Amino acid sequence: MKIIIVGATGAVGKTAVDALSGRHEVIRVGRTSGDEQMDIEDIDSIRAMYSNVGKVDAVVCAIGHVHFGPVHEMTSEQFMEGINGKVLPQVNLVLEGFDYVNDGGSFTLTSGVTNRDPIRGGSCAAAANGALDGFVVGAAVDMPRGIRINAVSPEVLETCRAAYDGFFPGHVHVSDEAVGLAYSKAVEGCLSGQVIIVE
Ligand SMILES: NC(=O)c1ccc[n+]([C@@H]2O[C@H](COP(=O)([O-])OP(=O)(O)OC[C@H]3O[C@@H](n4cnc5c(N)ncnc54)[C@H](OP(=O)(O)O)[C@@H]3O)[C@@H](O)[C@H]2O)c1
Repeated sequence: MKIIIVGATGAVGKTAVDALSGRHEVIRVGRTSGDEQMDIEDIDSIRAMYSNVGKVDAVVCAIGHVHFGPVHEMTSEQFMEGINGKVLPQVNLVLEGFDYVNDGGSFTLTSGVTNRDPIRGGSCAAAANGALDGFVVGAAVDMPRGIRINAVSPEVLETCRAAYDGFFPGHVHVSDEAVGLAYSKAVEGCLSGQVIIVE
């Protein structure tokens, strides 16, 4: 398979690269890194990336930033960071990708744990993750040409334990291998409309 992985150099995207690159042709995409550069928050940049890469069998997306802070202090503008920084870019990658994904191909998006196991200051993250999980469930029944769509929703990665120290009390940390297997299942397996939880 020819597979686009957006966010390939990131903590999460790297697990997908490691799980899939041995068996498939992987095109690594990042904002400043990888085989192709793209700003996923700019729809023209998404279109240019697809045009450069051409037809593929799978698209994996592991990007996104949100606002963290107490809900009673959050502004509407801060809430929109979750929409514009995590939800819309991943949805746009799907909407712009139909002409480039082969019959029977797949899209795999990335959400996260905060909408099923909340943390303090995580309401924007929870909303963004819930929106992405809902999108794949709803979109799966409409997908043309046998194209599948799923979301991978990992707990905090072991490799990110230090970066998130104190923000996820009591949460488990998951291995790169476990997260990579979820991307393998989404891309190489048969599921569609699923939120693949790694915890
Ligand atoms: N880390 C975790 O433990 C964890 C757990 C559950 C869910 N998640 C979710 O997984 C997603 C990725 O998190 P991460 O920790 O892997 O982030 P990360 O380590 O900061 O990696 C981000 C990746 O996305 C790319 N990127 C950033 N902005 C971009 C843009 N505008 N256009 C295109 N590519 C862009 C980066 O490329 P460049 O380096 O080239 O900029 C990098 O490859 C987030 O939505 C996060 O909430 C993370």
